[in-house]
Amino acid sequence: MKLAPSILAADLGRLREEIAEVAGLVDSFHIDVMDGHFVPNISIGPPVVNALRDGCTTPFNIHLMITDPARYIDSFLVRPGDTITFHIEVVADPRPLIAQIKRAGARGGLSLKPRTPVEAVFDLLPEADLVLVMSVEPGFGGQEFLPDSLERIRLLRREIDRRSLAVEIAVDGGVNEGNIREIVAAGADVIVAGTAIFGQRDRRRAVAALRQAAGG
Ligand code: DX5
Ligand code: ZN
Repeated sequence: MKLAPSILAADLGRLREEIAEVAGLVDSFHIDVMDGHFVPNISIGPPVVNALRDGCTTPFNIHLMITDPARYIDSFLVRPGDTITFHIEVVADPRPLIAQIKRAGARGGLSLKPRTPVEAVFDLLPEADLVLVMSVEPGFGGQEFLPDSLERIRLLRREIDRRSLAVEIAVDGGVNEGNIREIVAAGADVIVAGTAIFGQRDRRRAVAALRQAAGG
């Protein structure tokens, strides 16, 4: 299991320090980009993300919760190993967008809102590097994990394995020490956690507790 703290729950006035504090303990950082249109919230955009990218060697997974991803993909500075994920709900044909992300030098990720059937990405799996299954309605951290997400993860896992594909499954929203184990058992490869890591006073302890709860 890979752990990806969502910086949305960090102290946004000290982002560089917040990232540095856990960089050696985690597998990637999850960066929520919101446009106030696809979701009813605005977070950060390319200028801030690019400033943070400098000087951090841990991969970034940029989660675009925006209506027009094609317009902004090339504005992000990416390093090999970074992922840019967009929502399939906003595009008629995701294929050119995945290609655009790969041309930009990142891995291509597809994200699904909780009410979008996972079958919607099945045809696209050979082109994707990652599928981000939202387990809360996108827009805000600190929400409760939607229990039917487990069945969605299982369905997707089964399809990926049946076709022997290497697509990673990431799960985003409401993950905590109490549910991480069943989420990993359902087939998640990457666990996104905002409140459960940056929302905690002792981040080192929080990371260790999540890893232990997942594997213990
Ligand atoms: C929600 C974001 C999530 C959020 C997760 O729109 O996509 O990444 O930061 O936060 P927690 O872990 O607190 O649910
Ligand atoms: Zn996210």
